[in-house]
Amino acid sequence: MTTILQINSAARSQGANSTLLANELTAKLQQSNPGAQVVVRNLQAEPLPHLDDAILGAFFTPAEQRTPEQSAIAARSEALIAELQAADVVVIAAPLYNFGVSSQLKTYFDFIARAGITFKYGANGAEGLVTGKKVHVVSARGGKYVGTPGDSQTPFLKTFLGFLGMTDVNFIYAEGLNMGPDVANAALAGAREAIAAA
Ligand SMILES: Cc1cc2nc3c(=O)[nH]c(=O)nc-3n(C[C@H](O)[C@H](O)[C@H](O)COP(=O)(O)O)c2cc1C
Repeated sequence: MTTILQINSAARSQGANSTLLANELTAKLQQSNPGAQVVVRNLQAEPLPHLDDAILGAFFTPAEQRTPEQSAIAARSEALIAELQAADVVVIAAPLYNFGVSSQLKTYFDFIARAGITFKYGANGAEGLVTGKKVHVVSARGGKYVGTPGDSQTPFLKTFLGFLGMTDVNFIYAEGLNMGPDVANAALAGAREAIAAA
């Protein structure tokens, strides 16, 4: 059975374009994979903390030497990794905030990037351990940046996901959402065409 993990990372609990379009994409993928199980990770409703001394201490202390608090922090990270590893398809709802991903998505990435668990270094350099997944990124943007040096989000996501082993990444953009109703409607229609083709 196919498992679809949808990761919502908008700061807004209501009316987020990235969530709206990701919901539509997940529904479409469910249609093409009858019986697919959907898991939603809502990073706005269940926020993760920023990396700090306590979290880094937990990650870098060997499991058998961790305090109970450190074990709880590591377990939270490892539960998120298990959820990701269990997915065949990953849908990431990614708003563009200040030329990057939301801090919600960044903290999630900080929780799933674990040496020896999701990546490792060997003689040939880094090797991602999260493999065999199809990833769709739905990026909602106020302006238009695809294909320009201003699009710092796409290369970051490709690099980060690829580092962990997720190299099959399809980007769906809704760009120009803050450029007036005509541009916004055309952007949503274009994203919906891409969703239909996914
Ligand atoms: C805090 C914040 C920062 C933003 N930064 C950018 C930006 O750097 N570039 C841009 O084109 N749009 C920017 N926008 C507009 C968003 O990309 C746009 O509202 C998009 O719909 C966000 O996705 P969401 O609706 O899922 O939250 C920003 C919006 C917010 C709220």
